Amino acid sequence: MTPRSGDLEGLGKAVARARANVALVKYWGKRDAGLNLPIAGSISLTLDRLSAVATVSRIAPRPARAATRFCQDGVAVEGVAGERMAAFLDRVARESGVEEALLAEVQANFPVGAGLASSAAIYCAVAAAALSICGAKRSRSELSAIARVGSGSAARSAFGGFVEWRRGQRPDGRDSTAVQLLRESEWEVAMAVAITSEERKRVASRDAMTHVSATSPLFAGWADSLDADLDAMRAAIAARDLGSVGRIAEENCLRMHATCLAARPLVIFWSPTTLALIERVAGLRREGVPAYFTIDAGPQVKVLCRGPDLERVAAALAAEPGVIRVLDARPGPGVEMIEGEAPWS
Ligand code: PMV
Repeated sequence: MTPRSGDLEGLGKAVARARANVALVKYWGKRDAGLNLPIAGSISLTLDRLSAVATVSRIAPRPARAATRFCQDGVAVEGVAGERMAAFLDRVARESGVEEALLAEVQANFPVGAGLASSAAIYCAVAAAALSICGAKRSRSELSAIARVGSGSAARSAFGGFVEWRRGQRPDGRDSTAVQLLRESEWEVAMAVAITSEERKRVASRDAMTHVSATSPLFAGWADSLDADLDAMRAAIAARDLGSVGRIAEENCLRMHATCLAARPLVIFWSPTTLALIERVAGLRREGVPAYFTIDAGPQVKVLCRGPDLERVAAALAAEPGVIRVLDARPGPGVEMIEGEAPWS
């Protein structure tokens, strides 16, 4: 039976907020599915606007299983991978030496499971709040590795700004953690997120990743291209060279989606509006506005641009037929505690 929040009074709670991050060099392929260890590193930008707040409490007595509740914009969402989250909470409690089961209540302020990296924000916030309520002390980098076990991309939301999640070599994944490349205040870029559908995706990104890597004849070429992308992206970010960052991100994104199109059966995340937006971004560049797209496991289009151009870029995307709304985001901070002691020092 799922306990009610009212049952938990007096036991205390911890509350953490984490933001979504958008990959510029994608995580697409695993070397260990259980621990979400990637075949290569990935690089992302953490966004300020898209956040998840997790409230975690200890629920007594055991052997109660961990439980989860999800809300989006204050409305309960059913069927959001509750089992997966419960297993994750049990793991954090067990590894922290805590006897009680945990309850996580998660509020997201953007569509969940629609290709907007909601799982990154959700698992990172839950990891921080769970470690806090368990009294565990972990560095931000260790927290990143713990969040990664919930959802790979969550490793990157531990940090703000531009972030690299390193592949690591160890079979236990302890070195497969994120590091910060640039703080959120160090480069004034922005990202307009064009939402073309608020429906939950038909194929979860983790299932698509498994299927594509097992069946796509283009997958080996994708895997071979990643180290060069990572080197070039790291250098372009260090130089604050938006043109190069954007070009590498677009090429990397198109190569990832090419692996999907070649899978058997094919996986296609794009809608006609996605294609129209790719065209519109090229049009913005012809008009003299540096703007570059990237797309994840869904039809939404995320457009990287200079900070001062955000309004113009967002307006251009919003004017395309099929666009429901555009979220304007800027580089955001890493995971933070709202209530309770931070697990990191
Ligand atoms: O963390 P997951 O299992 O939801 O996978 C995320 C995969 C992509 O969003 C497509 C790419 C990425 O690096 O975020």
